Amino acid sequence: MEVILAKTAGFCFGVKRAVDTVYKEAGKKNVYTYGPIIHNSEVVNDLKKKGVEVINSREELEALEEGTVIIRSHGVAREIYDLIHEKGLELVDATCPFVRKIHKIVEKAGNDGDQVIIVGSEHHPEVQGIKGWCTGEVHIISDAEQFEGIDLNKPTTLVSQTTFNYKKFQDLVEIIMKKSYDVSVLNTICNATKERQTEAESIAESVDAMIVIGDKHSSNTQKLVEICRKACDNTYYIQTLDDLNVNQLRSVETVGITAGASTPNNIIEEVQNNVRIIF
Ligand code: F3S
Repeated sequence: MEVILAKTAGFCFGVKRAVDTVYKEAGKKNVYTYGPIIHNSEVVNDLKKKGVEVINSREELEALEEGTVIIRSHGVAREIYDLIHEKGLELVDATCPFVRKIHKIVEKAGNDGDQVIIVGSEHHPEVQGIKGWCTGEVHIISDAEQFEGIDLNKPTTLVSQTTFNYKKFQDLVEIIMKKSYDVSVLNTICNATKERQTEAESIAESVDAMIVIGDKHSSNTQKLVEICRKACDNTYYIQTLDDLNVNQLRSVETVGITAGASTPNNIIEEVQNNVRIIF
């Protein structure tokens, strides 16, 4: 009987950097994060106790008179930076450098006259942030049918949300390469995501049950669940140990565990220790 914990489970580099940044700023007066720093209510509540408030909209940002605003790893549109500067607020930028790189790519592409296609989930904050750095025509797609409404005879730059499913992205690239002669494809999927997805899939293929730990609102965790369910019917999606009925695992011989990029280590350890106990 065996429990296999994915090496890539938990905080990625960008999320760790952002969370560490907020803990460093906590304790100062009037510290805000623009959106919850990560999709994890435990961490957000802990920071609230330390005085860090979350602002959730441009309107709430406009209402601030003083203080420090921290941008989370997902990044934000250019207009949010401009507003923070206009209001004379202090800006602490914890945008993941890999996301920031996409902002620069799409900004340059727009300035050079390219239309931009972002492959990703339209309403995800990272995608909205990337869109907010586009200076010309921009389209957001997540499946092949959405190419239909786009004029692919124009010079085009195509980028991806950092957490998009690598295989789906490859399929979409194959399609656009057949339809368009003037497209620059930049694979901006983060390696951390690709490695996490590949490892999760390979563990899920080899175990009797798979546990994916992460917040219900975390898009990268949802994608992990999707990948694991394809490889292992017996996949459980939990936020914390409380969501897991360990009795369901009593009849299995091998269990795999992975976790999304915003799942803190203490939650992963707690799940791992409790699953080991029943074996
Ligand atoms: Fe950055 Fe990749 Fe994490 S883009 S926030 S290191 S998943």
